[in-house]
Amino acid sequence: MNPSRSATARAHPNIAFIKYWGNADDHLRLPANPSLSMNLDGLYTETTVTWRDDLDTDQLTLNGQSDTGAACRRVSAHLDALRERLGIRGFATVQSANNFPMGTGIASSAASFAALTLAATSAAGLTLSERELSTLARLGSGSAARSIPGGYVEWHVGQTHEESFAESIAQPEYWALVDVIAVVSGQHKKVGSQEGHRTAATSDLQAARVTGAAGRLATCKAAILERNFATFAEVVEHDSNLMHAVMMTSRPPLFYWLPATLAIMEQVRQWRQDGLSVCYTLDAGPNVHCICVKQDAEQVRQGLAALSGVQEVRVAGVGGPAQRVNN
Ligand code: DP6
Repeated sequence: MNPSRSATARAHPNIAFIKYWGNADDHLRLPANPSLSMNLDGLYTETTVTWRDDLDTDQLTLNGQSDTGAACRRVSAHLDALRERLGIRGFATVQSANNFPMGTGIASSAASFAALTLAATSAAGLTLSERELSTLARLGSGSAARSIPGGYVEWHVGQTHEESFAESIAQPEYWALVDVIAVVSGQHKKVGSQEGHRTAATSDLQAARVTGAAGRLATCKAAILERNFATFAEVVEHDSNLMHAVMMTSRPPLFYWLPATLAIMEQVRQWRQDGLSVCYTLDAGPNVHCICVKQDAEQVRQGLAALSGVQEVRVAGVGGPAQRVNN
């Protein structure tokens, strides 16, 4: 085996403040609206890709176990896209492991496809720009486009494959926000994002959500750049509520909240009234991401851990970009 055809990369998941929900083009994953997120430090996917000439199929090992099911097919489909667009030969062995649970509202697909894209292109001997990597990662999972750059990241909608990419708006050290994640269910979600994106347009509310997204993103971006927590909190909670309103009114409807989810959301609003700089946001799952300033993170963590229905609390600061790991 030629050792230059192997590479390892790491990428962080991200939490969206302005959500991506619904595509203008499902195949290319051109989103219906722009989105904004922060990478989550401490949580990561590490992936090693080795291109080989002696295989007749791609092979996936996920968290130490060989996988020939849906995950392997999705990985292989992404490798097909890379083979086709970049002229890479052969099939690959892919070894991927997360240090956080999958399918629980901590977006594992974002970290996975960002790490896979960087590892696969590096293993093929290519050195691509951050923008190129972001567009390619997007083909595997939309939110993966945002796990390529570091810190606070904006994903531009774009009309074509090349135009739809994400870039940093501020580095991790610009504002020390913390995501304190209240895990209320460790179960794998029943309906994944991919299916949800397809049904988003069946909600009467989706058009209104999409129309307002650029304005909310501008407000959120300005609040981050001004480190204005009050404005940030209001727009982040509003945007999350809007996405969940779309989910609940899609046909068929999608209800991700559990009773504990709602209780935590109410508690977070109360804590903010009491003076803590904290707000909530939820992805396609019941777990609550409580975004707060660093000074309040320990108090939020303790408060969440004491609530009934909270199984586990995870704490993540602002993460850097996807990176190669020496091997
Ligand atoms: C609710 O990027 O996971 O987390 O492109 O089908 O992989 P696919 O979808 P995905 O969708 C993320 C949806 C979200 C909101 C967000 O992260 O912006």
